[in-house]
Amino acid sequence: MSHIPVLYHEALDWLAVRPGGVYVDATLGGAGHTRGIQERGGKVIAFDQDPAAIARAKALGLPDLILVEANFSEVLPQLDLLGITQVDGILADLGVSSFHFNDPQRGFSYQHEGPLDMRMGSGGLTAAEVVNTFGEEEIADILYKYGEEQRSRRIARFIVENRPLTTTTELAEIIRRATGYREAGHPARKSFQALRIYVNDELGALRQLLRGAEQVLRPDGRLVIISFHSLEDRLVKHYLRDSRHLEPLTKKPVVPSETEQRENPRARSAKMRVAKRIDGDFV
Ligand SMILES: C[S@@+](CC[C@H](N)C(=O)[O-])C[C@H]1O[C@@H](n2cnc3c(N)ncnc32)[C@H](O)[C@@H]1O
Repeated sequence: MSHIPVLYHEALDWLAVRPGGVYVDATLGGAGHTRGIQERGGKVIAFDQDPAAIARAKALGLPDLILVEANFSEVLPQLDLLGITQVDGILADLGVSSFHFNDPQRGFSYQHEGPLDMRMGSGGLTAAEVVNTFGEEEIADILYKYGEEQRSRRIARFIVENRPLTTTTELAEIIRRATGYREAGHPARKSFQALRIYVNDELGALRQLLRGAEQVLRPDGRLVIISFHSLEDRLVKHYLRDSRHLEPLTKKPVVPSETEQRENPRARSAKMRVAKRIDGDFV
């Protein structure tokens, strides 16, 4: 199964792609948005920290596409290496792709058995290392902070009492036992989100991307961010509100139409915010 790009037309319209313009797709994934920018005549520099996404894009053989296998937190130094000092727009469609969720070996899914990995890139700690070596309090804090999980302390206690845990389904079962059946949706959803955000330092990387965008966008250049949970959306909203170099263009986030939400369940939690670089020197 492939990955369906979320808010496809909306993102390209807000990016205001113009022929000959240079755009950063910070989250290549299945290259859906990248192709859209190219079809509108834009030149794309696409980032992805996942070697598998870069390899898939190479196999597509898209013409005139610059691929960068790196975390988008490194957007400035990577563009610098390419000799690029200014771009016309930056798009980020955050989180994991369907390729990640659908591959049990990557460890993102609580429904399919796989190793407790959850890394989008190739380095850093795995989720297994977090749940098996961190202290109970530290695990509870991660679940609370990044998953907004109210029962974080009880879940952390169950994890520590039952470790070592090696598979996704083992962890999901422990969480289910700690929380009971009551909740709508899967009881492990919030904890899995929390571990994924922690393992990949998703909020830290996003902050770095926003900082980079402030510096590398040309005056009037657009920044388009699609997020999938409230922690990301809040971070983007507050950053844009407080920035002296970016002006928010969307008061309320843009959300997918009912049709899109029906056809693509992944789109249901999507929120898109857009800003433009204000004229003036960066200090
Ligand atoms: C939701 S998918 C993007 C889908 C893409 N827009 C499309 O239309 O196919 C997100 C992708 O961004 C990558 N990614 C997430 N966070 C990243 C980061 N901090 N740096 C680089 N790549 C990242 C993931 O590996 C994943 O492939």
